[in-house]
Amino acid sequence: MDQAHVTYTEANLTQAVLGRIRPDADPRMAEIMAALIRHTHDFVREVRLTPEEWGQGVAFLTELGKWCDDKRQEVILLSDVLGVTMLVDAIAHAGDGNVTETTVLGPFHRENPPVLPDGADIAPGMAGERLEVVARIADAEGNPLPDAQVDVWHASPEGYYDSQIGDGEAHSMRARLRSGADGMVRFTTIAPASYPVPHDGPAGRMLAAMGRGPMRPAHLHFWIRREGYRDLVTHVFAAGDRYLEEDAVFGVKASLVADFEAARRRGETPDLRLEYEFRLPRAAAA
Ligand SMILES: [Fe+2]
Repeated sequence: MDQAHVTYTEANLTQAVLGRIRPDADPRMAEIMAALIRHTHDFVREVRLTPEEWGQGVAFLTELGKWCDDKRQEVILLSDVLGVTMLVDAIAHAGDGNVTETTVLGPFHRENPPVLPDGADIAPGMAGERLEVVARIADAEGNPLPDAQVDVWHASPEGYYDSQIGDGEAHSMRARLRSGADGMVRFTTIAPASYPVPHDGPAGRMLAAMGRGPMRPAHLHFWIRREGYRDLVTHVFAAGDRYLEEDAVFGVKASLVADFEAARRRGETPDLRLEYEFRLPRAAAA
């Protein structure tokens, strides 16, 4: 019998797999793969994963891939609902300091939104409660930033983005605007509503199996770009929304919740109004 052969067991298999990572592998890749192997093995040991459950896991991951196309990204959705996307975001922005907090980009941004002038109505002809947005773009010290590119997009009062309405080709409730000399950006639109993340696929089934809902609280998305500053990808959430505490993707941060109704309560306007200041971090020196 050949004594050189080893038998892999629960006790030695993890070390054996780790030991196959070659010393000349890219160091960061080796670090990530070693941690992935250790944590995956620990997970299997902790839950005593059965062969049947392993098969279910394989089928789930296979199905995730099959649901993906150019309009649907089920793997990102899985990352979002498991809180992984927001954990990566939290680590990436831990040292940002006195600037606006970030949150998930989400799947509904489009690269070529309508370029509209200051004060534009970005949802013309759409039924819903009117929302006036007055945004100020500033640096970390509060100095106005002119000429920032501001992409905004949001869902309808029924909870659908333009890409989910009809054939999905028309643009509405989205725009690209530019801040003026005073750093201000103004537009009107219709008030967004809370909406469910796509939950007719495997990620949705997994949510249901955990007893979780798919809802996100009402919000506006912003992606603000300005030369010399880091991109800001964030949302502003509507205060009072019933789903603020149970956002399916864990995107809510207290500093991003704003009162859309304050102006109306003060009797200044019959409409909703959002006033918000975005502060951008300076780009790292090249
Ligand atoms: Fe959204």
